[in-house]
Amino acid sequence: MFAKTSHNQLKMNETIAGFSKLSKEEKINWLAKEYFTPPQKAVELLKNYWNSNEKIQKLHDEFIENTISNFYIPLGVAPNFLINGKFSSIPMAIEESSVVAAASKAAKFWSTRGGFKATVINTEKIGQVHFIFKGDESKLELFFAQTKAKFFAETESITKNMRKRGGGILDIILKDKTNLLPNYFQLHTTFETKDSMGANFINSCLEQFAKTLKQEALVYELFSETERDVEVVMSILSNYVPNCIVRAEVSCLVEDLVEKHIPNPKAFAERFLQAVQIAEVEPFRAVTHNKGIMNGIDAVVLATGNDFRAVEAGIHAYASRDGSYTSLSHAKIENEIFTFWLEVPLALGTVGGLTALHPLAKLSLEMLENPSAKELMQFVAVAGLAQNFAALRSLTTTGIQDGHMKMHLNNILNQFEANDDERLLIRKYFKHHVVSHSAVVEYIEILRRPI
Ligand code: MEV
Repeated sequence: MFAKTSHNQLKMNETIAGFSKLSKEEKINWLAKEYFTPPQKAVELLKNYWNSNEKIQKLHDEFIENTISNFYIPLGVAPNFLINGKFSSIPMAIEESSVVAAASKAAKFWSTRGGFKATVINTEKIGQVHFIFKGDESKLELFFAQTKAKFFAETESITKNMRKRGGGILDIILKDKTNLLPNYFQLHTTFETKDSMGANFINSCLEQFAKTLKQEALVYELFSETERDVEVVMSILSNYVPNCIVRAEVSCLVEDLVEKHIPNPKAFAERFLQAVQIAEVEPFRAVTHNKGIMNGIDAVVLATGNDFRAVEAGIHAYASRDGSYTSLSHAKIENEIFTFWLEVPLALGTVGGLTALHPLAKLSLEMLENPSAKELMQFVAVAGLAQNFAALRSLTTTGIQDGHMKMHLNNILNQFEANDDERLLIRKYFKHHVVSHSAVVEYIEILRRPI
């Protein structure tokens, strides 16, 4: 390991044994000495971000190993979302300046045009036991058919509570994957996990399946010695959930799209449609188009204590399900009606995991009136669609930079530690001028020039 010293020379860093056993202060002191000049400044900064409420800090310390401080991102809110006839305020945890503003604008726009409609299409989760079987496949099929009930029976204690809530294991299928890898098979399992995301539940079931599989194979009389030796490679849920889909939609008469920035709604609707069609056929554009959707989706997923990495991985796999990466959203104009919608896979929970542990995740869920997982899927999909609508509206009319840079202006002012008088003058000036990083810096320099 190498790090730069204050003199820009390369020095060899020390390695450290038992780092996780050190106290938080000791960890910080070691890091400060090892990587920062002057060390005290780094120590102070890290401590400035500790929460003064010791209980809250302890909670965060214990979320992960080796916590040294907290890394804040803002929790914002986008109000006025009319969804299935009811108004909601959507919490969003995100650092990008324009995202919450864009969501709020889109929410307001659609609130007077019928609002958002959201529907959960299905809620099936997936898990797999990946194993190696060297032998006669027809014997394995017979073995599986005769043992299937045992997989259910031996997970009964794990599934008991979930079954009480109406969930559980839906089905287990033996899959032959030997066309992909020699001797590779799966127990491909589907689950209903109700209001929990279900990762722990699914993984516990799968690990029990793996045990049952090995035990039962060992004593299966039709198997040869080699066939009895089933090798379980791993047992894990899949974050790809193409049968856990939610749809969000907006629609109105083309002429009703009219507003200050949309003087010609027909031309706007047609241009908007073209923008969506480009994302449908062109992967480079589709990725950025979907990134705009993820701005909304991730922000709500994060604010409600859900796993945004799982959601990201699953959604992008879904976007390429037909072999080419494409848009998650679609649009049409039929009989003078403009319709814009998206369908995304979302495995979310409103109980368990961080949702109950993180006080702000709990608060976000309360703001959403303690939704079921299905209702949360609807909020998240709507936030994604709203974000996508806002981005495409800007892109196809004013361009994105105008609004984005106006929101980003604050960040530049903070970077240059502008005082109140400077902020007032700069904001006034850039109301009527194009904001760019260099233009703002230039203006700050002019203001600060000695007269
Ligand atoms: C920026 O965070 C998101 C956009 O690039 C999305 C898009 O291009 O559709 C504006």
